[in-house]
Amino acid sequence: MDGNGRWASERNLPRIAGHRAGVDAVRAVVEECARLGIGYLTLFAFSTENWKRPREEVGALMTLLDQYLKKELETLMENNIRLKSIGRISDIPAKSQQTLNEVCRHSSGNTGLTLILALSYSGRDDILQAAREWGKAVQRGEAEPDSLQAEDFSSFLSTADVPDPDLLIRTSGEMRISNFLLWQVAYTEFYVTPRLWPDFNADDLRSAIKVYQSRERRFGLTSEQLRSGER
Ligand code: FPP
Repeated sequence: MDGNGRWASERNLPRIAGHRAGVDAVRAVVEECARLGIGYLTLFAFSTENWKRPREEVGALMTLLDQYLKKELETLMENNIRLKSIGRISDIPAKSQQTLNEVCRHSSGNTGLTLILALSYSGRDDILQAAREWGKAVQRGEAEPDSLQAEDFSSFLSTADVPDPDLLIRTSGEMRISNFLLWQVAYTEFYVTPRLWPDFNADDLRSAIKVYQSRERRFGLTSEQLRSGER
């Protein structure tokens, strides 16, 4: 969800005004995903690197998160949305952790869209913690180094019970992955739009999905193989 700062500076507003407008875009996109019957939506809300931003901005983002969670619980329940989180949740303020845990617990029985907030998240961190856990499993004699397969390793990641993303949308035109779901995006389709995140709306989401639907996902095969159903 990139471009909040630029959206604000284009209007001579403080950066936090951009984040506040970004929350409205979050709301619109989450509701549209639920309406469209999308199974999983992961929002990169705060990276481990974002802690290095000015203290006031970090504080304001944490407050916005807390307010969003408190305000949104009813809408999540009405729309059958289950909330989950990934990242170093123990890094975020205790009050927000508590709110997050409560909303996750409360919505855990919902069966529609799974909304995953990536908070204090880093793809490398995710892979490292998975490697540590896998190493411990080896030490316990529960895993065998020579037979490790990609699917086995995936089960140690924070997204163990979540399918790899089909589509990754990056707003504000930046052509980089910025330490998002590094392992999980191996075959994800990328869609980069110049639209700044606070301006991104349900129409933009549907346009991104249309483009995704026009792509041929070959997963390393040729078009001919795909057409003939050969695997
Ligand atoms: C990146 O834009 C955006 C963030 C670091 C924060 C994203 C947070 C929100 C949209 C609001 C809170 C989230 C939830 C889920 C309630 P940037 O600040 O890097 O923009 P810039 O590159 O234009 O400066």
